[in-house]
Amino acid sequence: PLILLVVAPLLHPGAMASQQLYLDGETLPPDFVYGCATSAYQIEGAWNVDGKSPSIWDHFLHNKTTNDVTYGATGDVANDFYHKYPEDLPLFRNALGVGTYDFTISWTRIMPAGRGPLNDKGLQFYKNVIDTSNKLRMSNICTLYHWDLPQSLQDEYGGWLDRKIVDDFRGYARAVFKALGNKCSHWVTMNEPRTFCTEGFSSEPDFAPGVIGTYKERFTCMHHALLAHAAAVDEFRLGGYKGKIGIKVDGGVSLPLNPASAADQAAAARAMDFEVGWDVAPLYTGDYPPSLIASGVPMKFTAAEKQLLKGSVDFIGLDFYTSQWVTASKHCKPSSGSYPECTETYQQNPSTLIDIGRPTASDWNFDAPHSTIYGGIKYLAEHYNATNIMISETGMGVLNETNFPLEQILEDVDRIAWYRGVLTAMKQALADQLPLVGFIPWSCIDNFEWTDGYNVRFGLINVEYDGAGKGSQKRNPKLSGAFSAFLPFPRLDQR
Ligand code: NOJ
Repeated sequence: PLILLVVAPLLHPGAMASQQLYLDGETLPPDFVYGCATSAYQIEGAWNVDGKSPSIWDHFLHNKTTNDVTYGATGDVANDFYHKYPEDLPLFRNALGVGTYDFTISWTRIMPAGRGPLNDKGLQFYKNVIDTSNKLRMSNICTLYHWDLPQSLQDEYGGWLDRKIVDDFRGYARAVFKALGNKCSHWVTMNEPRTFCTEGFSSEPDFAPGVIGTYKERFTCMHHALLAHAAAVDEFRLGGYKGKIGIKVDGGVSLPLNPASAADQAAAARAMDFEVGWDVAPLYTGDYPPSLIASGVPMKFTAAEKQLLKGSVDFIGLDFYTSQWVTASKHCKPSSGSYPECTETYQQNPSTLIDIGRPTASDWNFDAPHSTIYGGIKYLAEHYNATNIMISETGMGVLNETNFPLEQILEDVDRIAWYRGVLTAMKQALADQLPLVGFIPWSCIDNFEWTDGYNVRFGLINVEYDGAGKGSQKRNPKLSGAFSAFLPFPRLDQR
């Protein structure tokens, strides 16, 4: 009954007007994209069905000697979206009201050997997802790579650590574009290279491929990922496909702890260069940020590579969830990771959310939508003259969400509070003429949250399974889903 009470005001005829508190539909660019996102390994399941071969995530989680990484959970079944998409897609469209479904393609489902022939059944699955989306009046943002590299390429030459990956990625991209190139309004070459490179090759890797690495490995992975991105964009443009192509990057927005201190300002600028500029600068300037190069980088781009990288995005997707406050530190250490070595990072407590007693995931700063969303857009526009900026992921992860009674899970007012903050920040960005072109909440539906297994939930729709992914799989839209449905974004069918 409480749910009805809270939704009721949204159903009132004045509801659309009151939503203009966050965004005025009339001032939005007419082709503003509003969607929701998922990724293949996190929802599809069917890990070995219809000719799919193992990816590095299948291999990594099947071969862990301990279960500590994901509490024993895997993506073997996940949401079983491979079989349930005919029921799930209408739910995304109708319960969430999105005009775009943003999904990722599993390389090993579509091209099981990593290169060479396509698997018809795998390809058919993605054609079905796209056709069903279109019938439901949703367009698609399609991503080539969301961390699930073919294990065969990992075994053969070490995956992202070898230059060969660039040619294999180019071949994979070419084949996918040939099959599906004109079916997606937007293409994303890859999701968050910084995350899969730093987490997959850390000193204690808890991401696939789980190879213990140093800064050199992490940097090498990133270097090849950037070249692979540029190669895929080159294929797309050579093929003359009609959609837009870009990449999704992650990072926190770093702010000076003491805004009046020149040293803190420098520390924050350096943090932005090292964390965000690492992969963003090459897309716009053809090279890494000068401060990063000056710190001593293990690899360099050739002139031809720089040329291919520069301008290699029609749009840029920001997966921004958090901000951090940094200060200059006396304790400088040699380059060890992706992080600025002479700064210390401070997070603030997530204190200003509507507190219903639920801890959030990953120590993220869910009280900072303005600095994260507005700050992220402004940074990209000011520092790199970026145009066509999309908030391609943001959302709120709740730890152990399923420990609460279902009724409380579905009344996720804290998640709505986060999205309200995001919408207000986006409204400010648009008012300031910043080039914001889309907004994609993460995620349409609860799913496998990597190292957190199914214990951390980001969905606008709940799935009834436990932290290990066991349960009835019943889908229940959350209140945040109803909130999404009433946002005044132009939808595909209204254009
Ligand atoms: C980033 C990733 O792209 C996605 O896979 C992940 O689930 C969300 N953010 C939340 O952590």
